[in-house]
Amino acid sequence: MTYDFDTPIERRGTDSQKWQKYAGRDILPLWVADMDFRTAPEIIAALQERVAHGVFGYARPTPAQVEAVVGTFAARYGWRVDPAWLVWLPGLVVGLNVTARACAAPGEAVLCTTPVYPPFMTAPAHQGRAVITVPLALDAAARRWEVDWDALERAVTPQTRLFFLCNPHNPVARVFRREELARLAEFCRRHRLVLCADEIHCDLILDALPHVPAAALDDDLARRTITLMAPSKTYNLPGLGTSLAIIPDAGLRRRFEAATAGIVAEVNGLGYTACAAAYRDGEPWRQALLAYLRGNRDFLADFVARELPGVGLEAPIEATYLAWLNVAALGLQDPVAHFEAHGVGLSAGRYFGAAPGTYVRLNFGCPRAQLAEALARMKQALAARPA
Ligand SMILES: Cc1ncc(COP(=O)(O)O)c(C=O)c1O
Repeated sequence: MTYDFDTPIERRGTDSQKWQKYAGRDILPLWVADMDFRTAPEIIAALQERVAHGVFGYARPTPAQVEAVVGTFAARYGWRVDPAWLVWLPGLVVGLNVTARACAAPGEAVLCTTPVYPPFMTAPAHQGRAVITVPLALDAAARRWEVDWDALERAVTPQTRLFFLCNPHNPVARVFRREELARLAEFCRRHRLVLCADEIHCDLILDALPHVPAAALDDDLARRTITLMAPSKTYNLPGLGTSLAIIPDAGLRRRFEAATAGIVAEVNGLGYTACAAAYRDGEPWRQALLAYLRGNRDFLADFVARELPGVGLEAPIEATYLAWLNVAALGLQDPVAHFEAHGVGLSAGRYFGAAPGTYVRLNFGCPRAQLAEALARMKQALAARPA
């Protein structure tokens, strides 16, 4: 089967958060991380069948749905997950908040590296936990974002209980290698930290690199790890609110579940249906999507290098459909406002922990023609910079 990622799908006037932000204005939204593609036809067919059943009672996943998930983890990453380890959640941000609450007492700390997906910093704050941030280091010659291990050692305190890892990384689009994860495992062991590994982007690796689930590294790390996963980014299903925490250790799982009691909503039947269909039947579509995103990434990288002087894509995009662009050299006080004024909606780097005015994040999960139009507008925006 061939899949069409080129034909634009009208999302204006729909429930899309991404498009509603700029309703009535000619601004192409390349901000929040969902894609402008229709999900896999195989998933749509499964949802249609489920809708036709017509009964939408309180839901539990069927054994076959659970098997679709754990079977894919085993086949794709060689990771054997016992179904008993799964805790279903209506979203990964919920998972970050619950983890902070379950694994650190009020005032105790969560450690993470920046820049990073904003809820890594806001979740601990929402739960009254401290957050300690350590900047990733850019090795400009190697064109690579690295963990600054010395800074991490200096930052960790006796009150630190948790490390939040984003792998593959939003927004720097890196896939951490096995050696780095092993070093992180040693760090967490030595400082008695729970590792919360957000691996939501792991099926969006664009280069020939394996995804290594942190919990699959060794049994000791598995016992101290909460892995957060979802089919939502890859199959463009985030609006269906279906995510997973995978917690091998029974005691840690009980703590996590206790922190959800009474406040975390259950996942709905449509979410389970879509999730199972994605993992069971969505592989041909995913492969086609990855090929398309690779094309978009290469087009973007080439355009930035040739046509957007002063905009830096400082490292290769190994995974995700997100580009982390250094715009500091443009000297704009508010780069997002400037690009919006020229018809492109981006995410401000400061929400990810970058200094104001230095970075923007661009979502290239859209038809190539739309990406091309957005980049052409960015070129015009550079030409129209205040002197
Ligand atoms: C690293 C990361 N975690 C979590 C999420 C959001 O997860 P959810 O929509 O399930 O809350 C995103 C969305 O962009 C993300 O990039």
